[in-house]
Amino acid sequence: MKRTRKTIVSVALATSLALSVSSTYTAAAPVAQTSSSQAYYNAVDKKVINKINVENIYNDIDFLAKTPRVAGTEAEHKAALYVQKQLNSFGYDAKLEPFKFVGYTEASKVELSVDGTSYSPSSFTYSVSGNVNAEVVYAGLGTKEELANQDLTGKIALIQRGSITFGEKVLNAAQKGAKAVIIYNNAEGELNGTLGGANDLYVPAVSLSKAAGEQLLEKVKAGSVTATVTIEGAEVSERTSYNVTATKAPTEKKRNTDDIIVIGAHHDSVEGAPGANDDASGTAMVIELARVLKSLPTDTELRFVTFGAEELGLIGSHEYVDGLSQDEKDRIVGMFNLDMVGSRDAGDLVLKTADGKANFVTELSQASSLRLNGVATPYAEGGRSDHVPFAEAGIPAALFIHDPSEPWYHTPEDTIDKISKEKLQDVAEIVGTAVYDRARPDHKGPKAQKGQSFKAPELYYQQDSK
Ligand code: BES
Ligand code: ZN
Repeated sequence: MKRTRKTIVSVALATSLALSVSSTYTAAAPVAQTSSSQAYYNAVDKKVINKINVENIYNDIDFLAKTPRVAGTEAEHKAALYVQKQLNSFGYDAKLEPFKFVGYTEASKVELSVDGTSYSPSSFTYSVSGNVNAEVVYAGLGTKEELANQDLTGKIALIQRGSITFGEKVLNAAQKGAKAVIIYNNAEGELNGTLGGANDLYVPAVSLSKAAGEQLLEKVKAGSVTATVTIEGAEVSERTSYNVTATKAPTEKKRNTDDIIVIGAHHDSVEGAPGANDDASGTAMVIELARVLKSLPTDTELRFVTFGAEELGLIGSHEYVDGLSQDEKDRIVGMFNLDMVGSRDAGDLVLKTADGKANFVTELSQASSLRLNGVATPYAEGGRSDHVPFAEAGIPAALFIHDPSEPWYHTPEDTIDKISKEKLQDVAEIVGTAVYDRARPDHKGPKAQKGQSFKAPELYYQQDSK
């Protein structure tokens, strides 16, 4: 396949860029160039590049993205088995590592009627089902202080969004006796939030837009208002998801560095979305890089992992990191997280780190992208994916993603026809050569710098919980 390359800068400029992107890492010297249109990758890079077959990645995406792969469902289990089967076909001994989590089925019916008028509320993820008919009472922001002198026994609490989480508001109101909660937005737009996790103490909770909430508040202030809150079909239950893992031990036993590199992606998707780009693309690329790197000599342990339940709060990657011994954590010098790496409708490649700082993964990848494309892929701050639990454990980690995201993100339109083979090829080359630059037996780079452990903001785990 024809490769699309960015404009190539001069050798001198390329070298100075290589030095400016990282003070500790020097890119392998480029081979002599024969033509100005040729990239600066070296003979070692070429061993990787020549082996990558983008059709393999495309075909695996095609298979995986036939249906949504929601964690805990049969479809996710099938996806995990497919990843395992592919990895084993290259000679790996891939494992399915099951883990349990508390899953939530969204309500099938969410209704609110006030004195005969119907509103169009949404529910919160992790709200319980129920049918409550009671008087509506205004409860401000629903903080403990505000509710201290309020008795909500048997009432429906009307609460404004802000200052504390939705989950805390529901618990505070329930503690004061409320039978249901209505939370309305403090900004324009619909409110589709999460209570953050299951809790037996919750009462049914629905949300309203700012306009609808303020209208209801007017009625409540004007006199006694009775409402009915109905939530049906919402269900909390324990489910099983899987991480798929395969390991390549160093082939050069005498030169074994004891270091480990992890290349990961998530194989689950959100409900209703086939997730071709999010993240069958990264999953398929992990499979292809496992194939490519299998046949090359290496002095570093390589781990290929596809995570389950990423979309439900990075659960699989948390399980994985929690299961590592301190010795393993110390030995992992880099985690490459491939999430949304092939949409034709997304922007350029960016490396995102949880703390916004460069680390060993960005350094290796900036050096490889500079060698390959003449431009070092930029890095920026960003969470929202499986690199975060690694970063929190002090492991250098980065997310490979195109920015801005495609408009199909988390929609039924995230399908194979939007996948760009050029983008897949580009990312697979940058990651494959970055990893091999370190894992080849004669690598010249410095000892990897370990990151500081770091506490990710709550936002990295839960969107719209506040
Ligand atoms: N692939 C996305 C993350 C993403 C999307 C990062 C767009 C940057 C731009 C990931 O699968 C996802 O959707 N993550 C969740 C958060 C997660 C903690 C549940 C999200 O961003 O809502
Ligand atoms: Zn994703």
